Amino acid sequence: AQKIIIDTDPGQDDAVAILLALASPEIEVLGLTAVAGNVPLDLTQRNARQVVELAGRDTPVFAGCDRPLGRPLVTAEHVHGKTGLDGIVLPDPTHPLQDQHGVDFIIDTLRREPENTVTLCPLGPLTNIATAFERAPDIVDRVQRIVLMGGGFFEGGNITPVAEFNIYVDPEAAKIVFGCGRPITVLPLDATHKALTSKAGSPRCAPWAGVGEVVASWTDFFERFDTEKYGSEGAPLHDPCVIAWLLRPDLFSGREINVEIETGSELTLGMTVADWWGVTDRPANALFIGDVDRDGFFSLLSERIGRL
Ligand code: BDR
Ligand code: CA
Repeated sequence: AQKIIIDTDPGQDDAVAILLALASPEIEVLGLTAVAGNVPLDLTQRNARQVVELAGRDTPVFAGCDRPLGRPLVTAEHVHGKTGLDGIVLPDPTHPLQDQHGVDFIIDTLRREPENTVTLCPLGPLTNIATAFERAPDIVDRVQRIVLMGGGFFEGGNITPVAEFNIYVDPEAAKIVFGCGRPITVLPLDATHKALTSKAGSPRCAPWAGVGEVVASWTDFFERFDTEKYGSEGAPLHDPCVIAWLLRPDLFSGREINVEIETGSELTLGMTVADWWGVTDRPANALFIGDVDRDGFFSLLSERIGRL
């Protein structure tokens, strides 16, 4: 199975991504590292433990960084609710939080596992990953690939006109990750805004019970933001696209491109800047994903969640 570490700030869509990974035999989740993002760290680590417990697994959960590298934390309760995981209220988690810091877990795991066998799946701000790379540069070349949700290109931004939330919250961390030299797959808003709930094949239509009901309550909650604010059909399941790409890359399309992160300008802070026309000599550093087969994505998701 493909070994991964999920770095996450749950978040309803993070939660669905975690469930998708835990339900998929092709993937072995070595651990979840929580980061501050959608809500503060004390909530994201708690939410991560609730999700692991909901799946009936004992995947270890670690708490990582509680704030961006050099800026105050920006959160997104307006999207995800006060807990970050509003919807059906889950019981207090009994699944323990590990003592080890999330960044140390990332470092130790990459040093312990054979080179090129562990893929990092960041679903939130890139603070934990960047901190691990800065603290232990020897691990960078051991990473097999980074598959992340972040950025917006033709689609623009969702937290400022040009910046997507995960990149905006910690642009300095994003800059370190995009400059690390390892293969990166980027699932930006351009793709994830096409993974919309609410049509035939979306979670609420799927014949799920139990875990499925909880998932439906999350997507219902999550949906109200996009449908009320933008009149869109449903809610974009951003983070599950990362796991879906690992499972079924054939459902996605995109191209290799150079991506740089804006960290200076106040107006465009956190913008993902791509050299579409080769006007620089900067080499490609990311596989940009621009499209997803929505029906294929939702049938994969409902089939897998149905297994839990
Ligand atoms: C990203 O920001 C968060 O609110 C979501 O969980 C997702 O990771 C989308 O911009
Ligand atoms: Ca997230």
